[in-house]
Amino acid sequence: MTISKPHGGKLVDRVKLDYKLKAGMQQVEIDEVALSDLELIAIGAYSPLSGFLGKKDYESVVQHMRLTTGEPWSIPITLPTYESDAKQIQVGEEILLVKDEVVYGVMLVEEKYKPNKEIEAFKVFQTTERAHPGVKKLYDRPNVYLGGPITLVKRPEKTKFENYYLDPKQTRDIFKHLGWKTIVGFQTRNPVHRAHEYIQKTALETVDGLFLNPLVGETKQDDIPSDIRMESYLVLLKKYYPKNRVFLSVFPAAMRYAGPREAIFHAIVRKNYGCTHFIVGRDHAGVGDYYGTYDAQKIFSHFSKDELGIQPLFFEHSFYCLKCENMASAKTCPHDKEDHVILSGTKVREMLKNGQMPPKEFSRAEVVDVLIKGMKKSFTKI
Ligand code: ADX
Repeated sequence: MTISKPHGGKLVDRVKLDYKLKAGMQQVEIDEVALSDLELIAIGAYSPLSGFLGKKDYESVVQHMRLTTGEPWSIPITLPTYESDAKQIQVGEEILLVKDEVVYGVMLVEEKYKPNKEIEAFKVFQTTERAHPGVKKLYDRPNVYLGGPITLVKRPEKTKFENYYLDPKQTRDIFKHLGWKTIVGFQTRNPVHRAHEYIQKTALETVDGLFLNPLVGETKQDDIPSDIRMESYLVLLKKYYPKNRVFLSVFPAAMRYAGPREAIFHAIVRKNYGCTHFIVGRDHAGVGDYYGTYDAQKIFSHFSKDELGIQPLFFEHSFYCLKCENMASAKTCPHDKEDHVILSGTKVREMLKNGQMPPKEFSRAEVVDVLIKGMKKSFTKI
């Protein structure tokens, strides 16, 4: 096996920092999510996308989880704008994509269209309820989508952990340099708990390297902030992971909370970063009880192995078993639920906020320490 080919065969590169802006170009203000999508398209993380989706691709992705070319693609990557702004823009025009008065991108507007957001919500998130954070975000964003190819003319500034931002081109080179032929990608938006560590290390037993790729873009308010998480990853890696088998860099995308659909998206993107395998555990990218525990695994059966081009590695819900004195899952442990140390994310956040230590069977003491200190600091900031 060799490092995976990018999705669509070729890594997209639409970064042009010496791009000469023409006078009189119209500006469109973009939000945080669009800015991160713009950069991820340009650096090839979203290959084969070369811009924000036009109407046909958008509808095809929403309805069938495929681009019009037939390639699997499960999350619509769109550029929502206000109707008043869209009215000023002509199809065929090149516009500037701006955030807080800084020009980050140029886009050739090939299409303007109005989405049916209820359909989008229902198909992508399996609910139209605003209580779902992804649906709320979708509804809150403006109502006209612009489609067309982009060019990134300025990299968004990295104010935190800047050494951990690597483009797919770079991670691919690094994996080659390390001599890794099989690499398992791990997506996370949480601190690494014992269950994460268990599934990562179990996966690592069968491949050459682990690509720890925490998502650091926009997350919902009560998720643990990315800078605190990063500190906890570093502490954990230093003490409990072999240096030559793990590579950490961040994934600057926004979290969608689209469960199964997002698992497919996360896998494809990690393929673009060079992974051959991808971990999908319980309720991947889920929120509340919108998705079944293993829905994000079942959805992979919609696609053939070849068309996805990355091998998902599925894991059962794992936990520490007091009788086994080990990490385990229903597949490997014969004991009762009472013997299993299982805490919900909400419970853990509550404990951390109150300065309480979750049990060491749930989370390593070093990680908890970083989290409690970090949470205290972030509360005193508010
Ligand atoms: S996610 O929203 O980014 O998926 P999280 O950081 O909690 O959330 O999970 C990262 C990965 O670990 C996902 O693939 C998830 O399914 C898996 N996972 C999390 N907790 C467990 C667990 N207790 N048992 C098995 N898999 C888990």
